[in-house]
Amino acid sequence: MNKFPKGFLWGAATASHQVEGGNTNSWSEWEKKNAEKLASEADDKWKDWQLKKFPEMKDPQNYISGKACDFYNRYEQDFDLAKSGGHNAHRLSIEWSRVEPEEGKFDEKEIEHYRNVIRAMKARGMEPMITLWWWTNPLWIENIGAWENKKTKKYFLEYIERIIKEFKDEGVKLWIPGNEPGTYIGMSYVIGEHPPMIRNLWKADKAFKNILSAFDDAYDIIHAHQPDAQVGLSHYARYMLPKTDGLVIKYITKLLDYIKNWRFLETCKKYDFIGIQYYRANSVELKFSKSNIWGPIKEEDDVTDWHSDMDWCVYPEGMYHLLKKTAKYGKDIYISENGIAAVDDKEREKFLKENIFYVQKAMQEGVPIKGYFHWSLLDNFEWDKGFWPRFGLIEIDYKTMERKPRPSFYVYKEIIENNGIKE
Ligand code: BGC
Repeated sequence: MNKFPKGFLWGAATASHQVEGGNTNSWSEWEKKNAEKLASEADDKWKDWQLKKFPEMKDPQNYISGKACDFYNRYEQDFDLAKSGGHNAHRLSIEWSRVEPEEGKFDEKEIEHYRNVIRAMKARGMEPMITLWWWTNPLWIENIGAWENKKTKKYFLEYIERIIKEFKDEGVKLWIPGNEPGTYIGMSYVIGEHPPMIRNLWKADKAFKNILSAFDDAYDIIHAHQPDAQVGLSHYARYMLPKTDGLVIKYITKLLDYIKNWRFLETCKKYDFIGIQYYRANSVELKFSKSNIWGPIKEEDDVTDWHSDMDWCVYPEGMYHLLKKTAKYGKDIYISENGIAAVDDKEREKFLKENIFYVQKAMQEGVPIKGYFHWSLLDNFEWDKGFWPRFGLIEIDYKTMERKPRPSFYVYKEIIENNGIKE
């Protein structure tokens, strides 16, 4: 049997705002303003079984990131755990609001902090994959209209240049300018559930263009300072199937699949690798519904009966189909995120085995897959949902900050030791 190639990266991912704690940025301020409202909306938003399973949904405190996982102070302990689980890589992000809390004023202490974080990974034989922006903006950026304002691109590139100059000799090969820009635009400017909570397609388009052009320029800046760097995209992909057999719905599904999954990769001009982030599969049908974003097009979580605690439909085979399609871009591919919200850890064990099985199948058929990063190393702050979704290989007790590797942590360790799934 073909195992994964030598040097394959096995690890997990975390994002600064979701784990660090103590951040002051566009999200921390939004959380304070919206926690009460989010708690009061829980009854309407979630199903009965979810409300019963996660009563904390109704507690405003659930929606305040606060100390999060205190990863800012405990990253060494967390990297020790990751290493003990066999991880030879880790993906994380640098928090712009810490490094440049005021326009043009870089905080040397925070730069040193991230230097230490990078060195801590390297010291444990873990290859860093560093993301430079993960949806949170410094307040001074949010106050000028964030990505709607052209100036944000200029400021972002100044921040990137500073970081890359600081860290170009630290041995980081894999850089990602920003996480899932499509999700950011969708959630912040189309659906309007994330800050700045705007619902305006014109503004969405403007912000998206600014982000994409900033990422293209970031590619050049990173390469100018570190020619051997690999600069990639992290891209959310959702597997989509027509619900019925009709020609019209098949065509609509194809179109939606193109708009949501592939247009982004065709619009971005410069990247060395593609990071695929896969969680969910949807069927597509023609039906009016309150929750529709695209007129009469309804997307449903009913491709399989397997659902996460967030009620997302889990369909590991979708990973295989998405990877096969991604191969046509001719770039190295990483699974930069893949995970499940599940308090029942048996679900995560099954999820890991089945998803990695399909990654392996795609690899055996020639798709150039170079690494797999599970989402997530730790339970963490799931944005507007708060703390109740549990994505971690490691459980966090948020009262004591105790870390407890779940059984799935060891299942993943075994997969890593075996360098793949035993067939
Ligand atoms: C995001 C993460 C998020 C995860 C689970 C991904 O799209 O990059 O920040 O926590 O999905 O919802």
